[in-house]
Amino acid sequence: MCGIVGYIGPRSAQDVVISGLRRLEYRGYDSAGIAVGHDGVLEARKKSGKISCLDTHLADDPLPASHQGIGHTRWATHGGPSDTNAHPHLSQSGRVALVHNGIIENFATLRSELEAEGVRFVSETDTEAAAQLLGYLVDAGAPLAEAMRSVAARLDGAFTLVAIDAHDPDRVVAARRNSPLVVGVGQGENFLGSDVAAFLEFTRDAIELGQDQVVEITRESVEITNLDGTPAGDVTPYHVDWDIAAAEKGGFDWFMRKEIHEQPRAVADTLLGRYAASGELVLDEVRISPEELRRIDKIVIVACGTAFYAGMVAKYAIEHWTRVPCEVEIASEFRYRDPIIDPMTLVVTISQSGETADTLMAIRHAREQHAKVIAICNTNGATIPRESDAVIYTHAGPERGVASTKGFLTQVVACYLLGLYLAQVRGMKYRDEIAAVMDELSSMPEKIQRVLDDSQQVLDLAGELKDEHSFLFLGRHVGYPVSLEGALKLKEIAYKHAEGFPAGELKHGPIALVEQGLPVFVVVPPRGRDQLHDKVISNIQEVRARGARTIVIVEDGDDEVLPYGDVVIRHPRVSTLLQPLVATVPLQLFACELAARLGHDVDQPRNLAKSVTVE
Ligand code: F6R
Repeated sequence: MCGIVGYIGPRSAQDVVISGLRRLEYRGYDSAGIAVGHDGVLEARKKSGKISCLDTHLADDPLPASHQGIGHTRWATHGGPSDTNAHPHLSQSGRVALVHNGIIENFATLRSELEAEGVRFVSETDTEAAAQLLGYLVDAGAPLAEAMRSVAARLDGAFTLVAIDAHDPDRVVAARRNSPLVVGVGQGENFLGSDVAAFLEFTRDAIELGQDQVVEITRESVEITNLDGTPAGDVTPYHVDWDIAAAEKGGFDWFMRKEIHEQPRAVADTLLGRYAASGELVLDEVRISPEELRRIDKIVIVACGTAFYAGMVAKYAIEHWTRVPCEVEIASEFRYRDPIIDPMTLVVTISQSGETADTLMAIRHAREQHAKVIAICNTNGATIPRESDAVIYTHAGPERGVASTKGFLTQVVACYLLGLYLAQVRGMKYRDEIAAVMDELSSMPEKIQRVLDDSQQVLDLAGELKDEHSFLFLGRHVGYPVSLEGALKLKEIAYKHAEGFPAGELKHGPIALVEQGLPVFVVVPPRGRDQLHDKVISNIQEVRARGARTIVIVEDGDDEVLPYGDVVIRHPRVSTLLQPLVATVPLQLFACELAARLGHDVDQPRNLAKSVTVE
């Protein structure tokens, strides 16, 4: 989820690009770079670290004056954060510079094709394949826009590409698929940005580029074409009223709400590039051999907070698919109880930030016992993936709200990918069985979107219940960690007393808490798990009989539950193991809305920090 800026016009390209990058830094901040054209030559400066590091570099090594430029602030996916992997990437001849947001799934094929033609690559990124291919076509005589259309047509995956050609100082060209790009329409100048925040201080007229379209901007024109070169249809600009702060949040009031709404895209990005055309799962960041994975006899998942709940969800799937015993441990407890781990144990750590000290210490302990460690992490190059034997990145993009939302959903998806991968290498699942789960996983972004589209009822409910003091959350099987996550969200941002329980455990004590009017959320399993479904219905009746106000989260078409739910929140039908991906979303929205209505700082709740680097 990187930030991209492009500019052509009378101002200093460096000033416009750097100010745009600063506005987009929330999209990624592990490295930044800029390229400008000057006298038929491209000059690029790039640096790992925040934009301030690039500023220092530019002060030491200034760029020539230019009116054509592109820039990038990176959230690393392929290739760790480093000066070399930072964008822009230049073609071998140095004639073309390109920045990219997204993931190019077939970069390895393109790279070997180009290497066979004598092109030398310098970075570990997927992006460089696009830069080199574009340069190759331009060197062969194609105009930049035509070359960009050919490149876009060759790529699989998600991308926004923006490029300049040193021999064409009057133009910036871009393309997009499944990744955002907006054109800022000025007077005698034009802009490109990942979102409008990039250019809002210069113009408020914008055009959103459509799927599989290429745009050419000059000072006086904006020309949009489809990949076959035909002109795009309606391209009337719209006017943006947001202030800059709102623009950074995509028009939402809080980053947390924006991140909840980003989940369809984030889940799609986690899945991108994981499933080969041959029908095999490919997790190329797993640097543990299939032989070693076949030898493991125990899996231990270690994490904190929301990531721990993602691990609890994953346990059900991993054990079901692999038949390997799987434990889930709170990281801060792990090493102090002298856990039984050895070289046959696979330790899976989950961390959005990749810097959580408790999780890091658990990794160090596990590696001292010679266990293999796989990290599931959102932050490329963070300490946790660096200290692990292998890593699966979630590719969710930066999470700014302290309360983790897209982090959770993408962690569950990444754990499922790992579970399926283990089942594949251990021969526990046929290829068609894996394909069936992957098919359902790839339908999840659309299903999550439907939950978001139908969320008004949950928002109204938050308004109704905002003055309640206490809430219970119940679930069974994967619905149990979902209920823990629902309670945690409410505690951390709304400061409400909230508890999650396994629904069957209530009668062993906590049911004494139930009193007249107590709001009790219940995650009802899909009817595919018939026994479980009926058991949860009995649990709902138990609390309702004692005066609870029941808010039930159920799949579409489940009417058996209607007589027992005071409020019925529906989600699209999914299989049992995938239910957390839709059932968690209303709980996130409920907490976010309730906290917002109480006037709390939703993104920076009291007493909490996004990255907990102390034990
Ligand atoms: C809750 C939350 C925390 C984190 C936990 C682990 O919304 O954000 O519970 O999940 O501190 O953080 P990471 O995933 O960065 O290791």
